[in-house]
Amino acid sequence: MIITLSHQKGGVGKSTVAWNLAVNFSKIIDTRIIDLDTQRSLTVTNALRQQQKMNPIQMLHFNTAEELAHYAENDLDNTLTIIDSGGFDSAYNRVAIMASDLLITPVSDKPFDLMGLQKYEEILKSLSEIQGETIKTNILFNSINPAMKRFGDLIEFVCTSDHFDLLISILRQRVDFANSVGEGKSIKEYRIFSKADQEMDNLFEEIKSLLNI
Ligand SMILES: Nc1ncnc2c1ncn2[C@@H]1O[C@H](COP(=O)(O)OP(=O)(O)OP(=O)(O)O)[C@@H](O)[C@H]1O
Ligand SMILES: [Mg+2]
Repeated sequence: MIITLSHQKGGVGKSTVAWNLAVNFSKIIDTRIIDLDTQRSLTVTNALRQQQKMNPIQMLHFNTAEELAHYAENDLDNTLTIIDSGGFDSAYNRVAIMASDLLITPVSDKPFDLMGLQKYEEILKSLSEIQGETIKTNILFNSINPAMKRFGDLIEFVCTSDHFDLLISILRQRVDFANSVGEGKSIKEYRIFSKADQEMDNLFEEIKSLLNI
């Protein structure tokens, strides 16, 4: 199985969410990470994890997009590969999008993020034409102001597209997300029972049920 965190816009939380899902899933299934982020965020985070004497998450590297496509073709149901795609449109990212069993696109409530979604929708549209089926991504509201209660406009925006489904789970803006990564830990390993931990648990359960894990 392959989950890809994807959005051509940077700084929306792809690496943060990919990391937390990877650590959580590694406890229940053979989990690998593919780090396509040019900043190598997860590679660095995994090195920090080793410095803390914690078991690193297995990482895979490919020299070409064709190699990645070949790996994806031979993907097995008893392994989970989490791809942190770069925040831009590239051959690697296109392969990752088309090869995924589940696509997740984090977005905040900021206007620029929502505008970026329109550009991303165009990418999904053109890849859907190549693939001959409608590629859908699961929109994840991330880094949402904890005080924000009404989501009507955001939901309306997302629901206008055939390429977007909306995840029920929401991650709000919490300092623990940045702090935990800085120690090579997941949210749960950093501070259990925090609000961030509860939100990530909800997301983890939702993703498991979408993938029938
Ligand atoms: N829910 C959250 N609450 C608080 N901070 C967050 C949250 N999600 C992400 N961040 C912070 O936002 C910044 C960007 O997150 P991240 O690096 O995961 O984004 P990205 O989409 O992978 O970016 P890039 O495209 O540059 O790789 C980081 O500093 C991260 O710690
Ligand atoms: Mg990143």
